[in-house]
Parts: sequence; structure tokens; C-alpha cells
Amino acid sequence: MKIIQITDTHFVPPGHTLYGLDPAASLRRTVADINERHADVDLVVVTGDLANDGDESAYQLLRDTLAPLPCEVRLLLGNHDNRESFRHVFPKAPVDSRGFIQSALPTSDGALQLLFLDSHEPATIGGKYCPVRIDWLATELAQAPDIPAVIFIHHPPFDAGLAHFKHIGFHDPEALLEVLHNHPAGIRHMFFGHIHISLSGITEGGISYTSGRGVSHQFIVEPEDPAPYWTAGTGPNYTVITQQGKELRAMHVDTLDARPLVRSSECFGP
Ligand SMILES: [Fe+2]
Repeated sequence: MKIIQITDTHFVPPGHTLYGLDPAASLRRTVADINERHADVDLVVVTGDLANDGDESAYQLLRDTLAPLPCEVRLLLGNHDNRESFRHVFPKAPVDSRGFIQSALPTSDGALQLLFLDSHEPATIGGKYCPVRIDWLATELAQAPDIPAVIFIHHPPFDAGLAHFKHIGFHDPEALLEVLHNHPAGIRHMFFGHIHISLSGITEGGISYTSGRGVSHQFIVEPEDPAPYWTAGTGPNYTVITQQGKELRAMHVDTLDARPLVRSSECFGP
């Protein structure tokens, strides 16, 4: 199964810009690149901060910009989003029984269970995961105790080691991590956004993770700086996740036109 993660699209109403950038143009570039290079993609996951200020017009523009993708798209909420505005524009987006934007999907080979979590809390920059959401997650995991899970979420539920996120990380990660750690088949990997840099690692409890960088804007990597500069970085980007059985790979892709130097040659070894 080929899954593509896009994150932190930060859409603004049509005609507006953000930090001098046009988030819609950035995503258009990303979608075109996906369609050109990965037309066989099975699923696209956008891991939150879909709209910068939660405007319905921004969500409408996002809907139209994602439309050319050839596959199902799962949208997650981040701190910048607005759940009500989102649901007005995306009425068919899967939700749990309490209206949180949460859903589950088995991989096409049935080897893994993909779980899409809603860590958005109104008027809160950091992530939250209340008891209602915990119940949903625990129930989903309990229904497939023998199948490892892969988590998609906006906020990483641990300290990412970045001064800027010291106060706006995950406010109540303990209960969420306890449920994840107790899943009998284990958590195979976690993909998230929020931090706008590339980060991979493994938690104390043994959950490996990978972040997306942000389609529109990224941070210059200054871990000790509480107020680092935003940058357009290497431009619109996405992560290609390939899955077969319990095996996962994640490749970060940039969409800028890099001038080819010279074609390499195929290596036959040794
Ligand atoms: Fe963001």
C-alpha cells in the first residue's frame, strides 16, 4: 500500500497570503507532483493545520485544491483548525460517534490498522486527547488486538526537543500513551505534523515516529531557539509511505525543480 502524508497546509481565504507565501499554490504544486510521480497512491493523509484560521472559505479552497488527487484523502485537525467549519465543508469526512474527526482503516493487506486521531482542542495551541477520545481509541484497538496499529495525529504526544514547542506540545499525553503502549500487537509507527521540521526517533515506550515538515512553510532548525524563523525551506513537500505486511518506509520528497547534473548509472555491485 502506498500512503502519502501531507501536513500543515495552513490554508487562508482565496487571495490571501501567509508569510508572503500562497499556501494554495504550494499544495497545488504538491498535488501535481504526486499525480506525476505517484499516481498509484492508495491513500493521502493530511495531518492537520489544514486552515490557518479555520475559515470556511479556506476549507473550500483546500477541498478544491485536493480534488485532483486520484485516491481517498483523510483529513486530520490541528490546532489552527475549526471543527465546525471543517465539518460544514467536509460533511462526508469520517467522524466518531461524538463528532471528533477520528477514524480507522485497515491496510489493503490487512496487516496493519491505520488510526487517524483528533488532537484538536478549541482555543488551545497544544494537543489534547480527552477521555471521550481515549474511549474511542481503546475500543478501536480492542477490536483488533492482534493487528499492529499505525497512528496519524497532528500533535506529537511527547517532548519533541524543540524550545518553540515547550508550552504548545501535548498537554495530556499520559492517557493516550498508556492506551497505545497497552495495545497487545503494538504500535508500529506514528506519523504527525505540528512541528514544521523533519524529525524521526523513538519514544521511551518504544513507539517509533516520523514527522512531516509542512507544505507551505517550515521552521529553520534551531532547537534551542524559542522563536525560530519561518522559511519556505525546500518548498512544497510530502512523505511517501510504503507498506507491505508489517514493513514500513517513509521517504521525504521535495517538489522544487532541481536542475539535473548528470544522470547516474545503475550499480550492479559488488
Ligand atoms: Fe502548523
